[in-house]
Amino acid sequence: MKTIALVTQKGGTGKSSLAVSLAVAAQEKGLRVYVIDLDPQGTAKNWFERREAETPQVATIDANQLQAALATLEKQGHDLVVLDTAGVNTPATVSAMQAADLCLIPARPSIADIEATRPTTASLTKLGKPFAFVLNQCPPGRSIRTSDAYRVLQLGGVVSTASLATRADHIDALALGQGVTERDPQGKAAREIRNLLQWVMNKMEGAADGHQKARVA
Ligand SMILES: Nc1ncnc2c1ncn2[C@@H]1O[C@H](COP(=O)(O)OP(=O)(O)OP(=O)(O)O)[C@@H](O)[C@H]1O
Ligand SMILES: [Mg+2]
Repeated sequence: MKTIALVTQKGGTGKSSLAVSLAVAAQEKGLRVYVIDLDPQGTAKNWFERREAETPQVATIDANQLQAALATLEKQGHDLVVLDTAGVNTPATVSAMQAADLCLIPARPSIADIEATRPTTASLTKLGKPFAFVLNQCPPGRSIRTSDAYRVLQLGGVVSTASLATRADHIDALALGQGVTERDPQGKAAREIRNLLQWVMNKMEGAADGHQKARVA
């Protein structure tokens, strides 16, 4: 079983949106997926309540239950657990970082988001956990803002080569309890999230980007 955590202290970067759409996309690939919502805001939990399908299941738990919950999910035969965390540093965020095989740090291509990744990467470095940045809410198409942000983020660690543009499918999917791959399976947002999932799975196998290992500081 693999565990990924969406972490960063900046609010609104897309942690919850990516968590639920990655979970749905992974399920569509045949994986048994579970989402744990560690954010008291409950964005993923609320998404699940709006959802018609019964999977991937979303549960809210206390930070101190996380290890036991992951052990149970592994015994039940789950392949992937996605941890959504709050946009502020909480004990639950630290637990999620510790439990994850890979921490994904979404950042919009803006200086404020990039600066805001620093306390998160400092914590992850201290914990010795692999992490990768993912650019989200980029201007659609080629953009200097996106390529500049990519280069700046690269100075601080691995950046996913799969970035995501600002697309209405993310907003609609969240509102409808869907993943973007369900909202419009042929859409650009769906293609981007599948690319991100593939990149993340490869990275966890240590095979993405020319067999470059996820950064373990
Ligand atoms: N790629 C995208 N395109 C368009 N809208 C997006 C995209 N990613 C996220 N959003 C929108 O941005 C807002 C914030 O996203 P989300 O709630 O996923 O962020 P978050 O990091 O989980 O925030 P918080 O820190 O408050 O938990 C939401 O309205 C969501 O629909
Ligand atoms: Mg959130």
